[in-house]
Amino acid sequence: MKTLVKNGMIVSPEDTYEADVLIEDGVIECIGKNLEAKFGDADKVIDAKGKYVLPGGIDVHTHMDIDVGIARAVDDFYTGTVAAACGGTTTIVDHMGFGPAGCPLHHQLDVYHGLADDKAVIDYGFHGVVQHVDESILNELETMMDDGVQSTKVYMTYGYKIDDDGILEVLKKMKELHGITAFHCENHYVVEHLKKEYGDAGKTAPIYHAKSRPNLAEAEAVRRVLYLAKLAGDAPVYIVHLSCKESLEAVEEARRNGQKNIFVETCTQYLTLTEDRYKDPDGLKYIMSPPLRTQQDLDALWKGLEAGEIQIVATDHCPFNYAKEKQDGKDDFRKCPNGAPGVEERMILLFSEGVMKNKISINKLVEVACTNPAKVYGMYPKKGIIEPGADGDLVIIDADAKQTLTHEMMHGAVDYTSYEGTDLHGKIDLVMQRGNIIAENNEFKGNRGDGKYLYRKPFLGDL
Ligand code: URP
Ligand code: ZN
Ligand code: ZN
Repeated sequence: MKTLVKNGMIVSPEDTYEADVLIEDGVIECIGKNLEAKFGDADKVIDAKGKYVLPGGIDVHTHMDIDVGIARAVDDFYTGTVAAACGGTTTIVDHMGFGPAGCPLHHQLDVYHGLADDKAVIDYGFHGVVQHVDESILNELETMMDDGVQSTKVYMTYGYKIDDDGILEVLKKMKELHGITAFHCENHYVVEHLKKEYGDAGKTAPIYHAKSRPNLAEAEAVRRVLYLAKLAGDAPVYIVHLSCKESLEAVEEARRNGQKNIFVETCTQYLTLTEDRYKDPDGLKYIMSPPLRTQQDLDALWKGLEAGEIQIVATDHCPFNYAKEKQDGKDDFRKCPNGAPGVEERMILLFSEGVMKNKISINKLVEVACTNPAKVYGMYPKKGIIEPGADGDLVIIDADAKQTLTHEMMHGAVDYTSYEGTDLHGKIDLVMQRGNIIAENNEFKGNRGDGKYLYRKPFLGDL
């Protein structure tokens, strides 16, 4: 099966150039001018004249079907990946949720294969999750690598938070294995103290969710984990959903001091929404951790992206219905499940809010949403780049089209979008995975279960 995408503006982190792309049996065969003359017999020809052709988006922070104890995310691996596909994301790496206390790492891996394998419509991998640290868990990190899980997550807050000695042990082991340790950074004790203080004072409206998780509670944990990684010999450390200026300053300082192997992710919501949302009547929609911040933080994050201090933009897609699960928090923010949707909105928001508003270049978009995620998480050069030998995962964007983002256009199971009414400059015309069209004109065209599990490779170098 041959597919030819002709005349598009191909985008890589370094270049934007007009060319044709020929995909044969799912893999990019060649890129060049006038390929139609040579390969006129392609089974399908798509004219992308005047449009951008990007590598398929890679979202390395989702939580499909996650059970957070007080609720279950409403997107499973089918609805969540259909949403991703329609939004130009062709690969996800999902953070597995917690299993029963004391369970081995493979317990969750088995559970998650059961949740995803027959449902995912795009390619997918999993990050491990460390719930406790002992010899057997440390040994298992190695066998997880053999099963394609080259990254694991450590939470510094929530029910299964890991203390500093455990963090150090995981960092050392993962360094030895050439794996990536991802951290949810918040100072657990500060957050719990403030939640109680506000709760006891009857301050239970959504805005107190933000006030109980201040910038410094995140930045303290970021600084601590960076010190621990340095103590572990510059072990690779990946900060998930970095949301504020002070955390970014901690990262910049560590790098200035010569620390290597620091990777930073932010998410679309921290670049586009402020904590003012918590004061809206539907403020519960935005309860997530870390919380939304201020305009000053947003500005710092955009600058950090452009400067290369932040390498990846993901979403932390973790949707709960506003009309149902989110209402558990209507009298007390502490009872509201944390998390919000975003997997479908990420690529077009980065394009419209970032590229079209001159905050980042189109090349930077590709770098942070496609190429760097593939490099850090062991999928490059199969994923994240348009080059011969890479999978034929492409997104065609029409920069001239204008639209307004509404929940009606979305494809996931959740009952809202955090970005309702946003004016968008640009539109995703077509999305392809391994040469097959999986979305066109905002209509899903893929198949349940067509996504492949990705055995991700060890992390062997710099970006
Ligand atoms: O509020 C959030 N972010 N929920 C999902 C779990 C996490 O912390 O990433
Ligand atoms: Zn988190
Ligand atoms: Zn998360």
